[in-house]
Amino acid sequence: MDFASLRAACLQCQACGLSQTRHSVVFGVGPEDAPILFIGEGPGEQEDLQGEPFVGPAGQLLDDMLSIIDLGRHNCYIANIVKCRPPHNRDPLETEQEACIGWLRAQTRLLRPKIIVCLGRIAAMKIIDPAFRISRDHGQWYARAGVQMMAMFHPSALLRDPAKRPETFRDLKALQAKAQQLCPEVFSAGDSAPV
Ligand code: URA
Repeated sequence: MDFASLRAACLQCQACGLSQTRHSVVFGVGPEDAPILFIGEGPGEQEDLQGEPFVGPAGQLLDDMLSIIDLGRHNCYIANIVKCRPPHNRDPLETEQEACIGWLRAQTRLLRPKIIVCLGRIAAMKIIDPAFRISRDHGQWYARAGVQMMAMFHPSALLRDPAKRPETFRDLKALQAKAQQLCPEVFSAGDSAPV
């Protein structure tokens, strides 16, 4: 299956109850050969309305975080564990995550990223380890099937608690170093964002 047919099928999904309350399926955004994949938790209000991940306040901060290390939406892929908004932004239920994760797995198979960055606890527990503790384990690298993975605090957590920002700055610099090693082409001059 290619990205276009995967997206078309995903937009029709009714595998869990979130499909009943959504405005949009938030499939994901970015180049379909991006070497770095960011995974958040699930769409919020703005994402549900606009159909794109991380476009609300947390997304603004994510854009700033990426630009600190010379990355951006033009050279990274951004998706979520669940593609439809949980009501009132509650955590997605385990059943909802299980119903949805196949879409993200299929996207990941097509993308073949070199690096996966989980944003927050929910993504880290689903992708890296169910016993993941974000305060303890953020910034550590894990290798899974040849893919380097790490988690950092979710931008919403950084908005709530700015004291977490210095640690996140260190995680971003570690990500930048790993990307310079594994996919230096993302930093090449010809790949910069259009102005
Ligand atoms: N929070 C997330 O985890 N994902 C989004 O797309 C937006 C906010």
